[in-house]
Amino acid sequence: MSQPSIRIVEVGPRDGLQNEQTLVPTRTKIELIDRLAATGLRTVEATAFVHPKWVPQMADATEVMAGLDPRPGVSYPVLVPNLQGLERALAAGAREVAVFTAASEAFNLKNTNASIADSLERFRPVLARAVEAGVAVRGYVSTVLGCPYQGDVPVADVVGVATALHEMGCYEVSLGDTIGVGTPRKAAALLVAVASQVPMAALAVHFHDTWGQALANILACVEAGVRVVDSSVAGLGGCPYARGATGNVATEDVVYMLDGLGLETGVDLEALAQVGGWISAELDRTSQSRAGRALLARAGSAG
Ligand code: HMG
Ligand code: MG
Repeated sequence: MSQPSIRIVEVGPRDGLQNEQTLVPTRTKIELIDRLAATGLRTVEATAFVHPKWVPQMADATEVMAGLDPRPGVSYPVLVPNLQGLERALAAGAREVAVFTAASEAFNLKNTNASIADSLERFRPVLARAVEAGVAVRGYVSTVLGCPYQGDVPVADVVGVATALHEMGCYEVSLGDTIGVGTPRKAAALLVAVASQVPMAALAVHFHDTWGQALANILACVEAGVRVVDSSVAGLGGCPYARGATGNVATEDVVYMLDGLGLETGVDLEALAQVGGWISAELDRTSQSRAGRALLARAGSAG
């Protein structure tokens, strides 16, 4: 079987659920992760070992990990902000983790109570310990196309932070448009600027859809050479420390677009739409995925 040509990093169970105001039952989170992994997704970000007071929705990270039935070939990364988070993640059986910082000082302070430089220093022991434990580390840079507090973010700042994460040992660096303000040309230009310092194969893009630009931004970045795209089933998401940021781009819409472009993801779109419909009903909300809603409506009218 040929390898999928775009790898999707499904972030719904973490980036999606972390913004839900009502606590989602642990068993629902576990079922969501298992169902997503059954659709052909190879990476499903499962939870976050952050401080439970900062993000109460992720307080059950250990229980979520304990309830998973890992599928061969599927990776279940978890967010860790520091060494304490990594130790909790390792104790829970995590085999891949993700560290996160930002290109904007103001946002990073609100999100992690640290300057960018201090957060990078926090990651050094995390990387060292992860290597010792044989655990892969992904890195996130937030606010790459704009910050809710600072406004514009210089491209050079994004390049600097992404390069630092890669040089530190992150196998992949995800560029996050946390508040969804990017537009296609800016997004592609940013990607190309970062790719002058970090190999394109080690980059991912992560778009939120606040201004309806996420799919267009992804297309521009795929055309510029990126091969890893973060997205969230049913368009769940937001960031508790970025007011006004709406959901992540919906995985169903990304898969539909990539299918149409002849780019393989290995994901069964019909099965994914079912998962999106199910979790939206569980959360008592309307899915933000247009492709998913269209598919489910078609299946309903056919049946
Ligand atoms: P802090 O208060 O500065 O931590 O928080 P501290 O080191 O000063 O420690 C204070 C207390 O926290 C201590 O407990 C520590 O033990 C405890 P005490 O002695 O007071 O009882 N503590 C922890 N407990 C559990 N797990 C831990 C942990 N670390 C310390 N890991 C910290 C600093 C980073 C922990 C906090 O700010 C935090 O957890 N922030 C997380 C915020 C977050 O999760 N935001 C959302 C994810 S990022 C995102 O969504 C963006 C992304 O999607 C990409 C994009 O869209 O751009 C990735
Ligand atoms: Mg995000």
